[in-house]
Amino acid sequence: MNAETGMRKPMNVIVTDTPDQAFRRAADMIADEIRSVPAPVLGLATGRTMESIYRLLVQQYESGGLDFSGATSFNLDEYAGLPPTDLNSYSHYMREHLFAHVNMSSTKARVPDGVAVDLDAECARYEVAIHASGGIGLQLLGIGETGHIGFNEPPSAFDSRTRVVHLDEVTRRQNSGMFGNEPARVPERALTMGVGTILEARHLLLVAVGEGKAEIINKALNGPVSEAVSASAIRLHANVTVILDKASAHIWAQNRG
Ligand code: GLP
Repeated sequence: MNAETGMRKPMNVIVTDTPDQAFRRAADMIADEIRSVPAPVLGLATGRTMESIYRLLVQQYESGGLDFSGATSFNLDEYAGLPPTDLNSYSHYMREHLFAHVNMSSTKARVPDGVAVDLDAECARYEVAIHASGGIGLQLLGIGETGHIGFNEPPSAFDSRTRVVHLDEVTRRQNSGMFGNEPARVPERALTMGVGTILEARHLLLVAVGEGKAEIINKALNGPVSEAVSASAIRLHANVTVILDKASAHIWAQNRG
């Protein structure tokens, strides 16, 4: 929102022909942040969409074009009850897809601790750590079928903070691929940055590809800004980039005003 005029800055929506082009645009934007900010603080996400983006960043690192040594990161979320050693934990996901392959200090690559003795205290610690880092510069976001960002299942208050949440049945089904396609094995709870926490990042970068995301992208970007669709909250932010491929963008493109 522009304080002087009360007008919302239009979102920057980039639509690419192919998913691969979308991943490249996103990776280049993250790489630019790492190169241009002296001590970048990144907000990172998980999910299938992010795997290709991390692969491209690892390639840039391996070819000598990217130095992660000054970077700090905070992941959006983690399953409650899964230790970092669990193959389905997001902590493991991040090591597998990014952290183990780049020169990022392990103490500066943070993922909420899903097995902390006191999960609420862990969430509070996470908020303090984000704040102490100077705040997140670029926040990478995917979108779930329920419209969640992080694990902010609807309804999530737009001023919600890092907290323990119950996962929607739709999400447990969507994410069951890693759990032998058995939704019942997907943890019932997770720790997630809140919508309010996410909105405090200086730049939001939401990436979605594929026909499966077309309906929810339309709801998030064209529908009412409502706590019933957590991702619609990004429209309240002054500095947002959305990168979509044609398949995920087509319903939004037909209906946009
Ligand atoms: C998980 C994560 C979300 C992510 C979503 C999308 O639910 N908690 O942060 O947006 O996956 O996943 P995918 O990219 O696999 O569609």
